[in-house]
Amino acid sequence: MVQQPLPETVRIYLMGKEYVVPDSLTIQKAFEFAGYQWLRGCGCRGGICGACATVFRYPNSYRIEVGLACQTVVQEGMYIAQIPLFPAPKATYNLDDVAATTQAIHALYPDLYKCMGCNTCTKSCPMEIKVMEYISAAIRGDLRETARLSFDCVMCGLCTARCPAELKQYHIAELARRLTGAKLQPRAKHLAAQTARIRGGYFTRMLDEAEGLDEAELKRRYVDREVQPQEDDPKWLPKDRSHL
Ligand code: FES
Repeated sequence: MVQQPLPETVRIYLMGKEYVVPDSLTIQKAFEFAGYQWLRGCGCRGGICGACATVFRYPNSYRIEVGLACQTVVQEGMYIAQIPLFPAPKATYNLDDVAATTQAIHALYPDLYKCMGCNTCTKSCPMEIKVMEYISAAIRGDLRETARLSFDCVMCGLCTARCPAELKQYHIAELARRLTGAKLQPRAKHLAAQTARIRGGYFTRMLDEAEGLDEAELKRRYVDREVQPQEDDPKWLPKDRSHL
């Protein structure tokens, strides 16, 4: 007789083996509940690092679904498989030598113009990024828009894993963001000033001193450090951005 799962539990299949786990768990926690240890494919556990891309299917569905294991909650009958990291080929370049143009991106990622507009990339993205839209922006040479639309990318690679035209969307977007930051955006004056201060040794004395402190004194200084007030703190003041 098939055993029924208890209330508030679901039956899932991890690499083909059946487990009954609490229905509130993410895929990542369900693996651990079942006794697996995450040594690879796990980083931040908060949907930021993109390390935990996972594939799964629902019962009676032919579709392969994708998601971040640390963000996707298990559901009854889910078939889950961890797959090895699938890094897409990444172009090697020296950013100083790359012009901020579509032609330069195309030279490094010739598949760019193979986009068929199927939108599978957007549907695969766990961050709900409009991937196909940023690829369109890259094709028409709008690198700023490519950078803006892809800003929340966590580099999990699921868009590329699902793309029938074999574009490397997340690498293309990363290049567009780098080019935008390095060559299209105006220089940040406060950043240049701070960099000059660091290069001039402003923090060297403090770092040298910290190296000579014992653990207790380091902990005391950490606890007593200056913490910037948050917006709900009565001491909070809007930042002076007049220097920007
Ligand atoms: S572990 Fe970092 S996104 Fe899932």
